[in-house]
Amino acid sequence: MSQPVKTLIAGNWKMNGLKASLGELEQLKALVGAGPLACDIAVCVPFTLVASAATAMAGSPVAIGGQDCHTQTSGAHTGDISAAMLADAGAAFIIVGHSERRADHGETDANVQAKAEAVIAAGLTPIICVGETEAERRAGSALAVVESQLAASVPDSAGTSKIVIAYEPVWAIGTGLTPTRADIAEIHAAIRAQLVARFGDAGAGIAILYGGSMKPGNAAEILGVDDVNGGLVGGASLKAEDFNGIIQAA
Ligand code: PGA
Repeated sequence: MSQPVKTLIAGNWKMNGLKASLGELEQLKALVGAGPLACDIAVCVPFTLVASAATAMAGSPVAIGGQDCHTQTSGAHTGDISAAMLADAGAAFIIVGHSERRADHGETDANVQAKAEAVIAAGLTPIICVGETEAERRAGSALAVVESQLAASVPDSAGTSKIVIAYEPVWAIGTGLTPTRADIAEIHAAIRAQLVARFGDAGAGIAILYGGSMKPGNAAEILGVDDVNGGLVGGASLKAEDFNGIIQAA
């Protein structure tokens, strides 16, 4: 029997946001109030805004996250950012293995697993992303792709440390398209089954987020699917009112 998992609504600003965008976070802070809330909230901002966003959100239920990190803590890796640096800047979460990084930077499951390990070692929570492409879904291999990404991207230390999984079908990201409730339920149940088989009770407690064109208008329906424990929200996280609409749906 799976135990109740606290819902997490996490925003992913991607490569969007200048200092002026902190105003949206201030507005979000005002909209959600001081809590307590039925769900956890995080916003994963560009590296340049992590420290200022964390300062601005201090004392609110809105946690701040980064969107990627290096596998090492420090060293000769020009242009890279470590999980320890993001922790130092005030981040609580780091997204790893987003499909845009897998596609744009050739990140493999092994890279993603090492990054997730680095996030855990820094004392932060990795949001580990998996999801099939449109061609893979059409070929009937969505489930197999997700199961294989999950097995190879999640580190063994997830059994004793907090992690979050995000199922994001690549074809649903930024397109306005979403899978059917049945398709989401099928994938989330398979992810849950694999996590429980591998980690036992700890696997039952891992939040599994859905991501891909989640909006205020469809959030309640998607969040009502079994084993959907929250959302990873791109476009709709950029505006405080839209993001708050999803938080209220949760
Ligand atoms: P979207 O992005 O909500 O804009 O579809 C989700 C994501 O890529 O995390």
